[in-house]
Amino acid sequence: MRLKVAVCFAVVMALFGLPVVARMSVSKTQRKLSLDRRVDELLSQMTIEEKVGQLNQVFYFKQFMKPEIVEPGIREGKIGSLLFVTDPAIINRFQKVAVENSRLKIPLLFGFDVIHGFRTIFPVPLAMASSWDPALVEQAQSVAASEARAVGIRWTFAPMVDIARDPRWGRIVEGAGEDPFLGARMAAAQVRGFQGQDPSSPGRLLACMKHFAGYGAGSGGRDYDSAYIADAELYNVYLPPFKAAVDAGVGSAMSAYMDLNDVPATGNAFLLRDVLRKQWGFKGFVVSDAEAVGNLVTHGFAEDKSDAAYRAFTAGVDLEMSFPGNAISNAYTSSLTKLIAEGRITKDQLDEAVRRILEAKFKLGLFDNPYVDESRVAAIHNNPEHRRLARVAAQRSAVLLRNEGNLLPLVKGDPKVSSVAVIGPLADSKRDIRGSWSFVDDIKSAVTVLEGIRAKVGSSVKVEYAPGVDIARVYQSPFVIIQGPRPAPWTETQKRAEFEKAVSLARSSDVIILVLGEHEEMSGEAASQSSIELPGQQLELLKAMSGLGKPVVLVLINGRPLDISWAASNVSAILEAWHPGSEGGNAVADILYGDATPGGKLPVTWPRSTAQIPIYYAHNITQEPEAKKTFTSRYWDIPSSPQYPFGYGLSYTTFSFSNLRATKSEMRVGESTEVMVDVENTGRRTGEEVAQLYIHQRYGSASRPVRELKGFERITLAPGQKRTIRFTLGKPELTYWSGAVKEWVQEPAVFDLWVGADATASLTTTLRVVKR
Ligand code: BGC
Repeated sequence: MRLKVAVCFAVVMALFGLPVVARMSVSKTQRKLSLDRRVDELLSQMTIEEKVGQLNQVFYFKQFMKPEIVEPGIREGKIGSLLFVTDPAIINRFQKVAVENSRLKIPLLFGFDVIHGFRTIFPVPLAMASSWDPALVEQAQSVAASEARAVGIRWTFAPMVDIARDPRWGRIVEGAGEDPFLGARMAAAQVRGFQGQDPSSPGRLLACMKHFAGYGAGSGGRDYDSAYIADAELYNVYLPPFKAAVDAGVGSAMSAYMDLNDVPATGNAFLLRDVLRKQWGFKGFVVSDAEAVGNLVTHGFAEDKSDAAYRAFTAGVDLEMSFPGNAISNAYTSSLTKLIAEGRITKDQLDEAVRRILEAKFKLGLFDNPYVDESRVAAIHNNPEHRRLARVAAQRSAVLLRNEGNLLPLVKGDPKVSSVAVIGPLADSKRDIRGSWSFVDDIKSAVTVLEGIRAKVGSSVKVEYAPGVDIARVYQSPFVIIQGPRPAPWTETQKRAEFEKAVSLARSSDVIILVLGEHEEMSGEAASQSSIELPGQQLELLKAMSGLGKPVVLVLINGRPLDISWAASNVSAILEAWHPGSEGGNAVADILYGDATPGGKLPVTWPRSTAQIPIYYAHNITQEPEAKKTFTSRYWDIPSSPQYPFGYGLSYTTFSFSNLRATKSEMRVGESTEVMVDVENTGRRTGEEVAQLYIHQRYGSASRPVRELKGFERITLAPGQKRTIRFTLGKPELTYWSGAVKEWVQEPAVFDLWVGADATASLTTTLRVVKR
């Protein structure tokens, strides 16, 4: 969301009068008409301006906008959709203007970024992906949908399914990480969670996959920067999560901001027409990202706003997302009518786009039930089940990175521990536990790690807190408009005093729980970082704490992998909690004290330092692989291996994998086989493991990655319990887009298979695929 431009708006929308023509009444008989006929009937009554109005979506912020800025436009049929209206009374008010006072009574479609919760905040999407639990992800998004729907929102700008292989990119936090297979599973689960069987059914929303496509590949991890992605990488890596969302029935798509191979995604007919519509048969509608149509001029692609409208529209953007009155906004409303009059855009083309929007409105049941029942909001938002699920989600999203000497779990009532020092700038920050894109929750109700620990250990243990250091909030993001004031930065004197206070508190305590990482605005949109080091003086604080000779547990709150190389060899226990949401502090305490078992796994390769970026597991094997001593593809001044591999995460027990076998050791192209492995809990506690299947095609028309994830399953095993896990390997898993033949291929070849606990799994077998 680009509020920065919103705050500049000054010009109120130009509003024109329209002759009142025939009125459309929604009678019972009409309701029975087929969707097509209803849309046709409506289309036949619409003026060009009214049609263009349906292709116009505008922001509305009650914090700094008056209803009069949008109401005349709604009445005149010049606005078909709004976003960022989250107050049900205002939603009903605007809807009333549309369905009672506009000529054709076409209801408005209200959209919002329901990314990881609405009233109840779930862990950020990168964290949810760390659960490797699509069923949980689906459930969480269905709760988020129900809370948003309760206020009258009918459409979410989620899931964000951009593959991200550069942790400097702030928006890595919004997606499922680096892997197309995991990303595809998470994308489909989210679509199911938001839309259910039918997005019009109670508690559901229309989903919107974004940002189509390649946004995560921006140069240097800088947000909005150009992406250059060869077709093979596009089809094999960046597009699969979008395709999975389409297959799951996603109702809409959002075009991305950046240039893809020199053509901005919002004016990119290859993406929006060839891939999305022709290759995939997508039937929903496409919305531009905020101001992305006007920004085609900024890109140096379109000549002016009218040309931008022409290019976006003809490339396949149906709906323009705009700020009322902004200079680069409202390209469609200001230009489409003229472009049609000039014959550059045909009436049929216009109808095609308007039809998609109207179809969505009909399918959502908006013509029949345009209003929301304000009396039900509180009951839905206060459903205790939502908080319970948020807690489970945060437990299952956390990744245990290190646990030397089984320091964790801590023991409740341990006679040796009468005092716990909870230290760190994020230990008691309600704001930062939630993560970016948290706008309408009650910040006060978010549970911090300090609060979670206090509630867990009760009054018999002294739990004291000191922030130790401050993480400067240097961002000028206008999110403050809707999220309230940020804490003031510390003075130099305060900095010295707070550091000392934390050290002396820690010195007098039996256990130190250190909560470090990033504040919520350090990831998300326009929040890229040149370095993934722990911000501010946090490493200094960590070293000071570790020098005290006490047990130290490091809890990380963050939205991207961070350089924790010092901690990784000097701190006994490290728990990655990400931004775990409203119930985050309780969930962290549950894990630290053994009431929940960690079982999350990294959805991204974790670099040792910024210098290793980009580093991802599914790279191709080079001419000189790392195993060789000389002339290898590596930097000589740093190790080549990551800090933690993709798929990595510990539990409070140990597991063994054995007996890897495939029902067929040889099969024909097009056939499939089952791959089985036995997993056993070899430790003394019940634990969670994610069995992961990786493949490598040894030769073919193109080189294939050294490993690719092709199956996974998260399981719980009691001590000594053994289970056989089954995966299917067949055409969908063995097919790839070959840059050599420029086509999807499944080739006869020998495949290596591995199953294990992360991308370095060593248990292996082979599968030979022969000609059909
Ligand atoms: C973001 C989108 C978001 C939109 C509406 C844009 O700036 O890129 O992801 O859906 O704003 O808030």
